[in-house]
Amino acid sequence: MRIVLLGAPGSGKGTQTDAITERYGIPTVATGDLLRAEVAANTELGQQAKPYMDAGDLVPFDIVLGMIENGLKKLAEANSNGFMMDGFPRDLAQAEALDQLLDKINQPLDLVLFFEVDYEEIVGRLLGRGRADDNEETIRNRLRVYEEKTAPLIEYYTRKGLLRKVKGTGTIDAIGERIRAVLDEIA
Ligand code: AP5
Ligand code: MG
Repeated sequence: MRIVLLGAPGSGKGTQTDAITERYGIPTVATGDLLRAEVAANTELGQQAKPYMDAGDLVPFDIVLGMIENGLKKLAEANSNGFMMDGFPRDLAQAEALDQLLDKINQPLDLVLFFEVDYEEIVGRLLGRGRADDNEETIRNRLRVYEEKTAPLIEYYTRKGLLRKVKGTGTIDAIGERIRAVLDEIA
């Protein structure tokens, strides 16, 4: 299955991926995790990306696209059972680029799971986590960037008939159960 996880920062995308991978054998490609690994290893790419991440802005498209192309290539080589994208695409340009990449290999998306969580709950969750970009100012900007650039993808994928909404509040297990219901229906 080829799945995109869509939702605001803190909506719980990363939290749910392990359980999905374990149950369905679908590996995750998470651009935020890949970027944080580059920053931690102090690579040139990491050095380029860091100021954007610290500010909560989107990292330039060419950097992220290269990582996705690499990720898809590795998954193809590993003969994986599709993929889950966490944190990508983030705007219309990225969504269109992903469509083109997948068209080329004749493997279109099956599903976009949209995590519905209100902003008040999100801010509380992120302040409680304490990742490098989880301070109030950066969180506010991440939410602004999400509203402006990422939220339009809800409409984009609805029009393609791919979007399914999942209520992203409650216990982690309860949300996992809702996700399983959708995946079992589609599989
Ligand atoms: P990214 O790593 O994608 O971070 P984000 O968008 O800010 O989202 P989060 O990881 O914070 O949210 P999440 O939905 O995964 O929530 P989580 O499960 O962690 O991106 C970081 C930066 O990298 C961006 O700002 C940008 O600079 C750059 N970047 C990344 N991708 C890019 C791209 N494609 N293009 C350009 N730039 C890109 O949960 C959050 C917290 O809530 C956790 O503490 C968790 O334990 C808790 N929690 C989860 N579920 C629940 C629950 N049910 N109840 C209570 N708490 C919960
Ligand atoms: Mg995440």
